[in-house]
Amino acid sequence: MAKQKILFECENCGYISPKWMGSCPSCSEWNTFAETVEKKKESKKHKVDISKTEQRDIVRLSDVRTAALERKSSNLQEFDRVLGGGFIEGSFLLLGGDPGIGKSTLMIQVAERCPNMKIFYVAGEESASQIKQRALRIGLKGDNLHIGSVTEVRSVIESARRLKPDLLIIDSIQTMYSDDLSSLPGSVQQVRECSAMLQQIAKKEDLTTIMIGHVTKEGDIAGPRILEHMVDTVLQFEGDKNHFYRLLRCVKNRFGPAQEVGVFEMKGNGLQEVLNPSQLFLSDSGHRVSGNAITCVMEGSRPILAEVQALVSPSNYGTPQRTASGFDQRRLSLLIAVLEKRAGLQFTGQDVYLNIAGGLKISDPAADLAIVAALASSLQDRETPADTLYVGEVGLGGEIRKVAFPEQRVREAEKMGLDNVVMPKTEPMASIKRIKLKNAARISDLFR
Ligand SMILES: Nc1ncnc2c1ncn2[C@@H]1O[C@H](COP(=O)(O)OP(=O)(O)OP(=O)(O)O)[C@@H](O)[C@H]1O
Ligand SMILES: [Mg+2]
Repeated sequence: MAKQKILFECENCGYISPKWMGSCPSCSEWNTFAETVEKKKESKKHKVDISKTEQRDIVRLSDVRTAALERKSSNLQEFDRVLGGGFIEGSFLLLGGDPGIGKSTLMIQVAERCPNMKIFYVAGEESASQIKQRALRIGLKGDNLHIGSVTEVRSVIESARRLKPDLLIIDSIQTMYSDDLSSLPGSVQQVRECSAMLQQIAKKEDLTTIMIGHVTKEGDIAGPRILEHMVDTVLQFEGDKNHFYRLLRCVKNRFGPAQEVGVFEMKGNGLQEVLNPSQLFLSDSGHRVSGNAITCVMEGSRPILAEVQALVSPSNYGTPQRTASGFDQRRLSLLIAVLEKRAGLQFTGQDVYLNIAGGLKISDPAADLAIVAALASSLQDRETPADTLYVGEVGLGGEIRKVAFPEQRVREAEKMGLDNVVMPKTEPMASIKRIKLKNAARISDLFR
C-alpha cells in the first residue's frame, strides 16, 4: 500500500503546504496550519461531481424566466423577520452559534410551527431519542419531521432525493463526511466538500437547506471561510450564558436585508419570541438611583431601548479600575477623558464600573450620550431626570453628534412611555406626538 503523505492545510483559507508554517502565505493568518493527509484517491471522484451536469446554454438575461420570489413563512415571526420574510425555495442557509445556545431547538420549533412542511432532519450530533425528548418538551407531535442518522453526505443526498422534503436540516455540517476523502469529519476539506455537494442539490432540486455550523472560540463560524461565501444566508445565534435572551442575527442575506435581528427568550418549553425587546432590557423595579440612563440602540432596522448603569466610587488601589460589561472598555476610557477635559469632571482616584442591563452588548455610538450622562450622574450622586432617553455620539471635542435613524429611536421611546429625549438638534419629526425633545450640542449642556 502506498504510504500516505502528510501535508499541512491552512484552516482559514485551505492553502496546502508540504511543511508546517507559522504564517500562511495565502491569507497571512498566524498559527492556522493543521496536519492533514493527502487525499485517498487522486481521481476526479473527490472533487465536486460535475460529470453528470448537463450542458447549459448561455442565455441572455432578458430571456431568463423567473417566478416571483415566493417566501414560505416559518410561522415564527422573529425567524421570518431575520430571513427577510420567510424561506425562499432552494435557498441555502447556514446557522452558526455557541454550543448549547439553542440552534437545534430553533430548528425543531420551525418543524413544530410548520406542520404542512415535510422536514428531513439529519442528526449527526444526537440520537433520534434525544431529538424526540426535545420535541416533546416543545410540544411537537412530529408527523412532518423525518430524522436521518446517516452522516455520509452521498447517503444523505440519496435519502433526500427519495423523501423529497420541503426543508432539509443538517445538524451539523461538522459531523458530515464524504467517503471520498480520508480526513476526519469537521476538517476543512470535509466541510468544504460536503457543503459543496449539499449546495448542488439545493440549487438543482430547489431544496431549501439549513446547515447548522459550529463556531470557533472567537465566535466565527468554524471551517473554511468559503463556507460563508457558498451559502445564500448566514445567521448567527448569539446570547449570554447568564441570561435567557437570544439574538438571531442575519450576517449575510442574498434575498433580503442583512443585519436584521430576531429576539428570543429560552424557556423550559423552548424559545419564546420576544416581540417587544425594549421591555426585556429595561428594568421595571421603579427604584431610581444615580448612575442610570436610558438609551436606544439600533439592531438592524430595529430600535431597542437599553439601560446603562454606571458606578463611580473612590478607589482603594493606586491605579483606579475601569471595567465595562456589554460595552467596549477603551471607548469607556475615551468618554471618561472627554468628560474630564470638556466638562471639568474629575475621575482621578475613582473606580469606574459600567454595565449594560440585561446582558445586552452595545456597539452603537448613539449610546455614548447615555454613558456620559450615567457616569456624570454616578460621580455627582445625582439621579438623571426620570423617563429620559439619551441619544447621541460624543466626539473628542465634547460635541454631541447626530446619529442614524433618530425618528425610529424617539418613536420607540414614546411607545415605551418615556417623556423626554436629550439629543442633538435634528429635522422635525412628523410622527412624534407626545415626547419632549431637548436639544444638546455639547456635553456641558447636560449639566445646565
Ligand atoms: N428542560 C429545559 N428547560 C429549560 N431550558 C432547557 C431545557 N433543556 C434544554 N434547555 C436549554 O436548551 C439549550 C440547549 O439547546 P440546543 O440543544 O438546541 O442547543 P444547540 O445550540 O443545538 O447546542 P449544540 O451546539 O450542543 O448542538 C440548553 O443550553 C438550555 O439552555
Ligand atoms: Mg444542537
